[in-house]
Amino acid sequence: MLEKMDDFFTARVDGYDEHMRNTIEGASSFYKYTASLLPEKSGAKVLDLGCGTGLELEEYFLVNPFAKITGIDLTEAMLKALKENLADGEFYHYDTPLTVEHEKETLLAAGFTKVEELGDWESTHTLKAVK
Ligand SMILES: C[S@@+](CC[C@H](N)C(=O)[O-])C[C@H]1O[C@@H](n2cnc3c(N)ncnc32)[C@H](O)[C@@H]1O
Repeated sequence: MLEKMDDFFTARVDGYDEHMRNTIEGASSFYKYTASLLPEKSGAKVLDLGCGTGLELEEYFLVNPFAKITGIDLTEAMLKALKENLADGEFYHYDTPLTVEHEKETLLAAGFTKVEELGDWESTHTLKAVK
């Protein structure tokens, strides 16, 4: 059965964080790893595409509490959960249902000059896009 993206995540927002943390392989390391790649400079600006409930941001704020994040997400329920999780924060986020190859193509088409895959955990991949 095909579900619309926002319907899929809206139906699963309750328990999403627990599911990600406890059942997705590598979750205990890939959020930390991704956060370690982001800028540490106070006030750094980061665009989070597909921010969901903010699990990545929670880890990043431990590294850089004064980062300015723009989070984009199409699922209102996920953004509502993010605001509850990060009640004192600012958010801007985006995530796409693309294959890794299409995500690389999209980043190159958006103007990044180079896109590298730094690591993968089964279906989760860490990409580095260079300006
Ligand atoms: C698997 S969750 C990942 C959430 C978060 N990045 C994390 O690691 O926990 C994917 C998120 O991307 C959002 N999403 C998927 N396609 C999107 C699109 N085209 N534009 C904006 N958000 C999108 C979904 O609503 C969902 O919240």
